[in-house]
Amino acid sequence: MNSNMPLLTGEAKIAGVLGWPVSHSRSPKLHGYWLKQYGIDGAYIPLPVRPEDFPSVLHILPKLGLRGCNVTIPHKEAAASNVDHLDSFAKRVGAVNTIIVRDDGSLEGRNTDGFGFIENLKHGMPGFRFSNGAAVVLGAGGAARAIVAALSDAGVPEIKLINRNLSKAEALARALGGSIHPRPWSDIAAALGGANLLVNTTSLGMTGQPDLDVGLESLPTTALVTDIVYAPLETAFLRKAKERGNPIVDGIGMLLHQARPGFQAWFGVMPTVTPELRAHVLGDL
Ligand code: ATR
Repeated sequence: MNSNMPLLTGEAKIAGVLGWPVSHSRSPKLHGYWLKQYGIDGAYIPLPVRPEDFPSVLHILPKLGLRGCNVTIPHKEAAASNVDHLDSFAKRVGAVNTIIVRDDGSLEGRNTDGFGFIENLKHGMPGFRFSNGAAVVLGAGGAARAIVAALSDAGVPEIKLINRNLSKAEALARALGGSIHPRPWSDIAAALGGANLLVNTTSLGMTGQPDLDVGLESLPTTALVTDIVYAPLETAFLRKAKERGNPIVDGIGMLLHQARPGFQAWFGVMPTVTPELRAHVLGDL
């Protein structure tokens, strides 16, 4: 840290996170840490916004002089249809998590969740080769959309997309195109044979939810296993994979890395993810 004094002048750069509720969001803590670390005259604030107010609030942000914002549940899809410019990844995914106010006051929507997911794996397992084999993705909800699109872009040759509700996996595969193969939940064991990567994108395993209980017997022990659930940090699913010898990467890094491009756009510095930042954000989990 450069100083413990908060820097906040009349020229401060302001950004925030829009959600409903937003009190659970760790983004203020995360961006607040970086603002202090880099000695930036700026602030990042939680903005609780009801769904019915979201479009009007969004268009007020440039008038208030905000540099932009993050968007979280339940506004990510509404954000995609209410910004003036959408980057190609956000368009494919149909959801926006990062908004930048351009110099002309227009709103640019991006989706950095896929970037965060891939960066987390690259940092968590240096040298991991996405092109080495198939990925098995469990879940076909909002989080899966960005992850599946990002895995395709990263060169994964085949994605087996497994969801309890098969029609949702089919709809996602149709929407994204490429080599994405929807499979029913009962096909998990067969799908794991020869896989290079296994990802949980469902909410199973999160504190208060049942554990994700899948047999891993047919998964090669060289396959990387990751979970987007980060509370608890080591889910029963990750523990089981680790105990049989698979490399694992936990989910908190996706949250940390997805925040970096927004911070750069609003505050002018591409921040880094360090063990200290991780500990800071995990502090109250
Ligand atoms: P998110 O935006 O976090 O992905 P979501 O859109 O509500 O949240 O998706 C939740 C995912 O967890 C879905 O894939 C859901 O499966 P269904 O589409 O079949 O509902 C999955 N999920 C939740 N509870 C589950 C359970 N008990 N067994 C299997 N999958 C479950």
